Amino acid sequence: MSGRLQGKVALVTGAGSGIGKETALRFAAEGARVAAADLNGDTARATAAEIGGDALGLELNVTSAASIAAGLDALLAHFGGIDVVVNNAGVTIVGSIMDLTEELWDRELDTNLKSIFLVSKAAWPHLVARGGGSILVTASICSTHALQNDAAYCASKAGAAMLTQCMALDGAKVGIRANCVLPGFIDTPMIHGYFNDQPDPEASRLGAAAMHPLGRLGSPRDIADAFVYLASDDARWVTGTRLVVDGGLTTGLWGG
Ligand SMILES: NC(=O)c1ccc[n+]([C@@H]2O[C@H](COP(=O)([O-])OP(=O)(O)OC[C@H]3O[C@@H](n4cnc5c(N)ncnc54)[C@H](O)[C@@H]3O)[C@@H](O)[C@H]2O)c1
Repeated sequence: MSGRLQGKVALVTGAGSGIGKETALRFAAEGARVAAADLNGDTARATAAEIGGDALGLELNVTSAASIAAGLDALLAHFGGIDVVVNNAGVTIVGSIMDLTEELWDRELDTNLKSIFLVSKAAWPHLVARGGGSILVTASICSTHALQNDAAYCASKAGAAMLTQCMALDGAKVGIRANCVLPGFIDTPMIHGYFNDQPDPEASRLGAAAMHPLGRLGSPRDIADAFVYLASDDARWVTGTRLVVDGGLTTGLWGG
């Protein structure tokens, strides 16, 4: 532990699994006091238990303003303030616009985009009360590159990246930095679900790994380490950035 986040209080959403869980663990290892929040309260509490100490596990639905308010109240009562928000919770619902129902579209956009608005808005005055803070977002390479049969997900992630930039401009006046990470394909339960929805899941998995010039899928740790940097004071002059962490996938044409 090098204490890069010593003294900071962080809320991580979607912390019961995958990238969010690893981010919560890494933040704690760097000295942050962490609230691990997830729609699935059992997994959130399991992450908090794995961290130990005074870590908090919260059952929190990022699509519900009431649930967010209750979770934030619990966090503030427990820690007395908040410095970092990681908007990470998300779902992927595959399909072209002809496959998606209006209900599925709304579910995707509510979970992946509106949630960032709701959670960040709720935390904003509390970040300001601490003299500023850091808002982080798990966007995606799909923020900039379309995927076939993934219309709602890609639209939600494009919006997530732009919303991050808007928060960066508005937050600059009050000491709030806002940055997003654009992961490539990361080895988590979400991507397993995506592969399983393809006609040949194993071929899809191998093909996805081979597409990354660095020769493998990403790990949750690859993304968590990027968030540690962006949340830390090392990134004190970094705001509005889209940090691509994708093993080179979107760098250019790959001839390997
Ligand atoms: N895995 C990838 O390849 C990849 C690539 C780019 C971006 N992402 C993004 O990373 C983030 C994390 O995904 P992951 O791969 O770790 O997936 P994951 O499925 O392992 O974890 C997502 C977590 O979010 C939680 N969640 C879902 N809806 C929620 C809600 N309404 N309120 C609170 N929590 C909710 C789930 O319960 C789950 O624990 C997502 O935003 C995803 O879009 C993932």
